[in-house]
Amino acid sequence: MTDTPQIVLGSRNRKKSGEIKELLAPHGFDVVSIADVADIAEVVEDGETFAENAAKKAREPALELSRWVLAEDSGLMVDALDGRPGIYSARYAGENADDQRNNDKLLVELAGVPPEQRSAGYVCSIALSDPDGQIRLTTEGCCRGRIIDRPRGTNGFGYDPLFLIPEYHRTFGELDGAVKRRLSHRARAFQRFIPLLVALFRSDC
Ligand code: IMP
Repeated sequence: MTDTPQIVLGSRNRKKSGEIKELLAPHGFDVVSIADVADIAEVVEDGETFAENAAKKAREPALELSRWVLAEDSGLMVDALDGRPGIYSARYAGENADDQRNNDKLLVELAGVPPEQRSAGYVCSIALSDPDGQIRLTTEGCCRGRIIDRPRGTNGFGYDPLFLIPEYHRTFGELDGAVKRRLSHRARAFQRFIPLLVALFRSDC
């Protein structure tokens, strides 16, 4: 394929979309948010894994719009909670939960758990669908850290004020966005994804 097509970002989370656009920006892809393209129904996230949900969030809008759609599913897996909240991260405290309520619930669930047992990982799974609904690329990235016992910092979103990067002694809520763009689960998934995307659009596909 010689001309790189416009890619629709299948996420309505503005902070997440902003991070994705910043990760893709240096590579010159033409990316547009789904909310700016069409008013289509939200995809039901009923997959059992991040990868299944990412594929669904890419495929369904791609078929509906006949466009290339890039989607990601991500979340927090806490070791002491057997991987919860996992794929339910966005709705941990209920269907209409916001970041504050999810974070409050996480702190309650981890009450009394000592620092050395509060290890956790953020996971990000990416999928790219072509306009026919075929998943053409998938990658995953992970970022390890520790859940602290009170929020620190206002950067990022979601669980970031509770997610400590031990090497920096700071949470993602405290660290500059540039650091998150290098270290995060999303950054790592895109570091793998971008070369594949470049190769895909440079080849005859
Ligand atoms: P999704 O939009 O269904 O993939 O849900 C992602 C949820 O996982 C978010 O609403 C957050 O609760 C959490 N999450 C994913 N990535 C991040 C991140 O980079 N920082 C903080 N929370 C995140």
